[in-house]
Amino acid sequence: MTKTMKNIDSFGHLRGESLFVDDIITKQNTLYGLVFDSICAHGKITKIDFSQAEKIEGLVKIFSHQDILGVNQIGGIIPDELLWAENEVHFAGQPIAFIVAESEFIAKKARALIKVEFKKLPIITTAKEAKEKNSFINAPRSFKLGDTNKSFENCDHVFEGEAFSNGQEHLYLETQGCYAYPMENGNIKIISSTQGPTQIQKAAAKVLGISMHKIEVDVIRLGGGFGGKEDQATAWAIMAAVAVQHLKKPVKYILNRHDDLRMTGKRHPYESTFKIGLTKDLKIKAFEAEFLQNSGAAADLSPAIAERTLFHATNCYFIPNVKTTVYSCKTNLPPNTAFRGFGGPQGMFVIESAIAMVADKLGINKRLIQEANLLSENDEFSYGQVATEVEAKNSWQSAKDNFNFKSLENEVADFNRKNDRFKKGISVMPIAFGISFTNTPMNHARALVHIYQDGSVGLSTGAVEMGQSVNTKMLQVACDTLGIDAEKVKLETTNTTRVANTSPSAASSTADLNGKAVLKACNSLKGRLKKVASKMLKTDVKKIIFNSNYIFINNKKTKLTWQEVVAQAMLERVALSENSHYATPEIHFDKTKEKGHPFAYHVYGTSITTVTVDCLKGTYEIDSVKMVHDFGKSMNMGIDMGQVEGGLIQGIGWMTMEEISYDKQGKLLSNALSTYKIPDIYSVPKNIETIPLETEGNKMTINKSKAVGEPPLMYGIGTYFAIQNAIKSFNNKYKLIFHSPFTPEKVLMSLYENVE
Ligand code: MTE
Ligand code: HPA
Ligand code: MOS
Repeated sequence: MTKTMKNIDSFGHLRGESLFVDDIITKQNTLYGLVFDSICAHGKITKIDFSQAEKIEGLVKIFSHQDILGVNQIGGIIPDELLWAENEVHFAGQPIAFIVAESEFIAKKARALIKVEFKKLPIITTAKEAKEKNSFINAPRSFKLGDTNKSFENCDHVFEGEAFSNGQEHLYLETQGCYAYPMENGNIKIISSTQGPTQIQKAAAKVLGISMHKIEVDVIRLGGGFGGKEDQATAWAIMAAVAVQHLKKPVKYILNRHDDLRMTGKRHPYESTFKIGLTKDLKIKAFEAEFLQNSGAAADLSPAIAERTLFHATNCYFIPNVKTTVYSCKTNLPPNTAFRGFGGPQGMFVIESAIAMVADKLGINKRLIQEANLLSENDEFSYGQVATEVEAKNSWQSAKDNFNFKSLENEVADFNRKNDRFKKGISVMPIAFGISFTNTPMNHARALVHIYQDGSVGLSTGAVEMGQSVNTKMLQVACDTLGIDAEKVKLETTNTTRVANTSPSAASSTADLNGKAVLKACNSLKGRLKKVASKMLKTDVKKIIFNSNYIFINNKKTKLTWQEVVAQAMLERVALSENSHYATPEIHFDKTKEKGHPFAYHVYGTSITTVTVDCLKGTYEIDSVKMVHDFGKSMNMGIDMGQVEGGLIQGIGWMTMEEISYDKQGKLLSNALSTYKIPDIYSVPKNIETIPLETEGNKMTINKSKAVGEPPLMYGIGTYFAIQNAIKSFNNKYKLIFHSPFTPEKVLMSLYENVE
């Protein structure tokens, strides 16, 4: 019914009317915060002097760890992260103090006057160095299936190699920020741009030394999160809350872009090694990989991200003998964090690199190896889950049928024969992505639905709107279930007092989890209202249908309206509010065995990418990306297509142009948009085509519509290998390396590598 609904924020966004944290009309006496962070990546603080800064007129107070009334600790998974540094700093950008002043300008002036001295300690910036020095966040994790050692002995081809994938800056349009203010009785309200309101509530309670019920967190919407606000919106919100606790005045803090880039973590860079074994018929029999994750200076979400790397280390292939190990390596960089795909893309880049290497060594087309190893029904993943409702081969076949791989490849070969300066490359990228938080206890959500007596509806869930259009989907579920128009339903803000104990909006699961809760709540309400309607119409309750604001008896429209039924229900004292809870059934995982069934289902798809490389300049253009994507039965194709295209382009950015760079001192060099390039309108593929693989959906999805937030990012990985193929056709002496992003500089070097 509502399947073609536009994102309900589109008009507000276009007109500039949508509210973000920074748009909230501030209260009287609002003060402004600013973090003073470390310029040193590792050292002891030998001296710190706020006295000059404190003399500035309009400065209110400089907060540091000494002002914390609870515990100076914000680590989520592992308690290893201080809100404000005490005696040591572990990364450049680590918050040391929080300046609160009457204006941002004054706070900035004060920041420049703070004097700090460090006794420098050795700095680690790469995962490899960290491993050599035994610097880890936690113990390594390993997944095992079959026996790789034995299997390698029986393989006809065995190859070993290494792969590196760099980090990625989230670059949400809206930088991190919050606005906190005092309520009565020592209660505090925090409005934050966070994916995880409950995370903030919980951590704030701990740091402030008060209980959770005294803190209310409210989220209007985010100008993008991409994982960067799953854990890392917390620090600022709590700093502001500490200031509110002391000063009893409103405190606002919106990070400017430079501060945000410098102080926040990014996608994890991975250094990995692999060994792959195949039989003559190209069946991959054994795969081993060791992943070194550059976690940064504190755990943040790294252990969970590392785990997902292992879950996706074999992508959509069935490999009977697998051994994968991941090390979360502690370095002196800002703690790296969640980023669309959550470690999955890093794992998938390695297996794709391994397959590319095999293809190169054997002199065959990579896609033949991919195709020979696609997952089938009832194949087992290395973590014990048996794959069901598998669409790997279907999506592959559909891509083949719709896009004709062979003829695309012939066009490329033909072009390359005729052109010297420009060379084209092509590659196929199939994907499988597991849906659910890998940490089973996080897979639950709630919805609170109020029907007001005039028939309008207020809808609260734990879902955070960050551009992925989850609010529109929640609205669709409510409207379709209650049989009423969208105008009647208001999406409330995400607020911890209305929907408590939420998991962050992440893991592509927000719509599934919260949508199921909305569905349940609306069904309960409808059940009660149907009884009222059946009495009013003097007919059997089973025949009552709610549709387009009217009551139907079977398929026959009556004159009775939704409003009239609600009004009557009110007179009859029927409960018009409902709070529902949904927890994903069936999933489980045993970390002691590293086996289980962690995912509700998988999302599949296949893409084919064609690029043209300018072999004089090393620059390239992406001609086309054609995808067959498994939406299940999409509940909103417009929105889901947007997710596919957006995810793809973010993946292409990661693989080709976005180059995070730190110097040996741990200082971020790519600290502005002049030194960090993200995809723009000129770098998107000239042609993007997405064909839905209409599948049955899955009962664990919301209305059979599969999760779509993260999986498409991984189509972007194909770009790397397409560029590589173009280079190969120009320079037959080029030795394959797997070192992303494939920037034009690297492409140029590769084009002329070993060329006399
Ligand atoms: N799309 C937009 N426009 N903005 C975002 O911040 N985040 C991505 C994805 N798509 C994001 C987005 C990430 S990292 C995730 S996990 C999912 O959306 C989260 O939303 P969902 O669970 O509703 O898919
Ligand atoms: N995905 C995204 N975010 C998460 C996950 C996950 O699997 N686990 C914890 N946070
Ligand atoms: Mo997404 S990385 O799970 O926020």
